Amino acid sequence: MEQELEQLRDEALASLETVSDDAQLESFRVNYLGRNGQISAIMKQLGTVSKEDRPRLGQRANSIKKELEEAYSSRKTSLLPASQTAATDNPDLSLPGRKHQKGKLHPVTQIMEEVCGIFESMGFSIAEGPEIELDYYNFEALNIPAHHPARDMHDTFYISDNTLLRTHTSPMQARVMENQQPPLRVIAPGKVYRCDSDITHTPMFHQVEGLLVDQKVSFADLKGVLTVFTRKIFGKDLPLRFRPSFFPFTEPSAEVDIACVICNGEGCRVCKKTGWLEILGSGMIDPEVFKMVGYDPEIYSGFAFGLGVERIAMLKYGIDDIRLYYENDLRFLSQF
Ligand code: FA5
Repeated sequence: MEQELEQLRDEALASLETVSDDAQLESFRVNYLGRNGQISAIMKQLGTVSKEDRPRLGQRANSIKKELEEAYSSRKTSLLPASQTAATDNPDLSLPGRKHQKGKLHPVTQIMEEVCGIFESMGFSIAEGPEIELDYYNFEALNIPAHHPARDMHDTFYISDNTLLRTHTSPMQARVMENQQPPLRVIAPGKVYRCDSDITHTPMFHQVEGLLVDQKVSFADLKGVLTVFTRKIFGKDLPLRFRPSFFPFTEPSAEVDIACVICNGEGCRVCKKTGWLEILGSGMIDPEVFKMVGYDPEIYSGFAFGLGVERIAMLKYGIDDIRLYYENDLRFLSQF
């Protein structure tokens, strides 16, 4: 085998001398250095030689392989056109450098920060909770027992019988109230998940939950806070409406719609011809929810809301398909 190795080395080096273009160089590489080339073939035979000879022959085979790889690289450089080698050897230092693109915050992150900033300026503090949630907090503690029809509204991704990807940020209502006594004023921003996808729905989206509990809190307070919020985030002139709705954990409940900016309220495919786009659900906290966390509903009242951050981003930037935010197309993202 020793002789075979030396012969292969001499033959390879001699053949490299005759290489005169890229195609020949490539066939040299495949023939001698490739995965199924001659060097590999010899190395595979090492297992058959005696234990005493194997280390020495193995070392020699490796050093020949290295020598041939180096010879191949230098032949490759010598085949480069003169202009290219000159550029590598003598770079033109006066040429302008390559520009690196600056990173930016994702538009949804920018809106999320703006939304949180507005509520912080109204005295709300921030709480965060788990995205993998217990069925108890996502449903039961919110007055949605097993088999309640309201569970169907949520298109839930279950992980096991009692864990799931949270379908909304409302579980934070129960988590916060279990740990704090009123008065409280908290927002809980974060990702939520639903098996849902079309031009106004994505399977992962962001919500900001709001919760305010104190004595004598009324629906007028809820309307006031949400009206101030929408005026601040969209500017004064965008029409909004409170539309009666139902959530098992609030009573009464209302959804807030903003006039569709894509069609100026005239009706289009984004607003499903209604002229309005829903941005949040809200309501006065149901006494049953208070009882489950040990608050006395005779003493305390409060309101909660959960708003969709992507929907707000759509309206602010006039985007007619929510899925664009998650396609990672830099031509789209770099506009924000
Ligand atoms: C809820 O999720 C309630 N938890 C809101 C709530 C909180 C009500 C507190 C009362 C008190 P809803 O399913 O309507 O409600 O979602 C709230 C908002 O999330 C919607 O108004 C919409 O803006 C947004 N949203 C809902 N589903 C999607 C989706 N698949 N993709 C993007 N945004 C969505």
